[in-house]
Amino acid sequence: MKRIEGVLLAALLLVCACEKKESPPSTKETPSVSSAEQLAVMERLMRGSSLYQQHCAQCHGPEAQGHPDWRNPQVVAAPPLNGGGNVWKRRKQDMIAIIRNGATRHGEPVMPAWKGRLSDPDIEDVIAWFQALWPADVYQRWRETEVRTAASRG
Ligand code: HEC
Repeated sequence: MKRIEGVLLAALLLVCACEKKESPPSTKETPSVSSAEQLAVMERLMRGSSLYQQHCAQCHGPEAQGHPDWRNPQVVAAPPLNGGGNVWKRRKQDMIAIIRNGATRHGEPVMPAWKGRLSDPDIEDVIAWFQALWPADVYQRWRETEVRTAASRG
């Protein structure tokens, strides 16, 4: 839990740092907009975190580290979502789809469908939370694919 709070704080600091850089130093402080945005990001991550702990942690691990046997094809074990697995190779819409619809293996359900139990904003917040755990280079690679496929869709 401590580490997760640390990550949230780091994500918030990152947002603050980016916004500081964008505003030229000469302008007078206009704190209202950017601090409201920062608060919104923080709230989103907190919501995502608590939804994750409630619905996903029992399989994917409290820190989204996955089940220790996730690489073993003989067992059904939830993979990491913290950037250590393969989830970053998916486009966001595919992550949303698997969370909505769940997953089956050989016709057997291995991950429940969350459609009807989690709203679309809930799902977005959970994704935002586990993406905040990704190492910067993993996130960067995901972003590049995401931007490329968005561009090719026109
Ligand atoms: C009952 C256990 C279980 C629960 C609860 C569960 N999952 Fe999963 N999840 C799995 C398994 C097992 C897989 C791998 C499915 C496969 O092999 O096709 C998976 C796969 C995924 C993937 C794709 C990962 C990848 O590497 O591509 C995502 C994203 C995901 N789950 C998100 C979630 C979220 C978000 C929640 C909570 C709302 C959740 N899961 C709850 C078991 C679970």
